[in-house]
Amino acid sequence: MSEPSPPSDLAQARRLDDFESLARARMGRPEHDYIAGGADDELTMADNRAALRRWRLRPRVLVDVKTVDASTSFLGQPVSLPAGIAPMAFQHFADADAELATARAAAAAGVLFCLSTMSSRALEEVAEAADEAGSAPRWFQLYVHRDRRRSEELVRRAAAAGYSAIVLTVDFPVAGNRERDLRNGLPYPQAFGNFEVSPAEVTDGVLAAVIGGFTDATLSWDDIDWLRGLSDLPIVIKGILSGEDAEQAVERGVAGIVVSNHGGRQLDRLPATIDVLPEVVQAVDGRAEVYLDSGISRGTDVLVALALGARGVFVGRPIFFALGAGGEQGVSRALDLLGAEVRRDMALLGVTDPAQLVREHLWRRQGPDGSGPG
Ligand SMILES: Cc1cc2nc3c(=O)[nH]c(=O)nc-3n(C[C@H](O)[C@H](O)[C@H](O)COP(=O)(O)O)c2cc1C
Repeated sequence: MSEPSPPSDLAQARRLDDFESLARARMGRPEHDYIAGGADDELTMADNRAALRRWRLRPRVLVDVKTVDASTSFLGQPVSLPAGIAPMAFQHFADADAELATARAAAAAGVLFCLSTMSSRALEEVAEAADEAGSAPRWFQLYVHRDRRRSEELVRRAAAAGYSAIVLTVDFPVAGNRERDLRNGLPYPQAFGNFEVSPAEVTDGVLAAVIGGFTDATLSWDDIDWLRGLSDLPIVIKGILSGEDAEQAVERGVAGIVVSNHGGRQLDRLPATIDVLPEVVQAVDGRAEVYLDSGISRGTDVLVALALGARGVFVGRPIFFALGAGGEQGVSRALDLLGAEVRRDMALLGVTDPAQLVREHLWRRQGPDGSGPG
C-alpha cells in the first residue's frame, strides 16, 4: 500500500503524525529540526517508537462498551485523557503565541499541560491564558539553575500561579549532542519567558548548549529535600530509566516518576522507554504514580503504556508540530484526534475505563530474554 498523501490543511489531519508536514510548510528547516531532532545518531529516538509498535493487544470481546470514558486523574486531579502535554522549551519557534496557545488548547480539552522552565512566555501569563480557556491541571517543569536562588524564585512563582506539581527534569546535567541544531546554527532566543538572561550566558549560541549552560551539573539526590522545602507542591521526577533510581526517588518521597529518555534528545543508545517501564513499575510498587513519555503518537501507544502499569503518558513532538501547523487550533485538533483514538481503541479492546487496563490486555511473543515482544 502506498503512503497516504500528506494533509494540506488542519481539517485533513487524521493522526498525530500528520502535523509534522503541515508544520514543516510553515517553518524553516532549523526550527523544524530543533523539534524533530535527537542526539547523536538518533538511535534512541527511533527505538522509542519501534519498541512501542512491537507490542500487540489482546482484546476481550462481548463487553458492553457503549459508554467509554477515558478520563482519569494525575496526582489526584481530574484529566479528560490519560495523556498530558510534555514540557517543551521555546514554543515560539512554532507559533507566535507559543505556550499561551498550547496551554489554552490543553485547558479547553481538560488535558494536563506541563510548562517548561525554558518557555517563551512567562509562567504567570500562561496560567492566566489557560484559566480563561478551561480547567485542567498544569505542572511546572524545573531545570535547576546553577544559581539556586533563581530556581527557588521560579518554584515560588509557579506555586503562586496555580501550577500543581513541580516536575524536576534529571536527565539534563549537560546538553545532549544535537547535531542537527549545530549544523543548522539554530539561533537562540533573545528573550526567555521566565527570566532575564545575560548575554554572557548565551555566548555559545547553540540552543541546547544554552540550556546546558543554565543547568546545575552538581544536582544530586540530596537536593530533593531542598526542592521539597521550597513549596508544598508534589514533586515528579522526569528522566528515570532504572529500577534503582525509581527506588531512590520513592524513598525521597516523590509523588510521581516520568520514565523518559527526553525523546532521545539527551544520551543516545538509551533503551526505549516502553522497555524500561516494567522495571520501574515493579520497583515503585504502587508508592508513586508512574508516567511514560518518548515516542507516543497513537491511541494504541497510550493503551500499551497503561497496560504495562503507567498511570498516564506525555506527548512531546506531535503537539509541538500541531502548534506549528495551526497554533491553538492545531493543538486542539491534535488533542481531539488523540482522544478519539484512545476512546475508540479502548472500546475495541473491551475496556471502558483506563483503570481496567492490565497486562493481560497485551499479547506478546517472548523476547530472547523473556521480557518483551520478540
Ligand atoms: C522541542 C523539544 C523541547 C523540549 N524541551 C524540554 C524542556 O524544556 N524540559 C524537559 O524536561 N523536556 C523537554 N523536552 C522533552 C519532552 O518533555 C519529552 O520528554 C519528549 O519530547 C518526549 O518524546 P516525544 O517527543 O517523542 O513525545 C523537549 C522535547 C522537545 C521535542
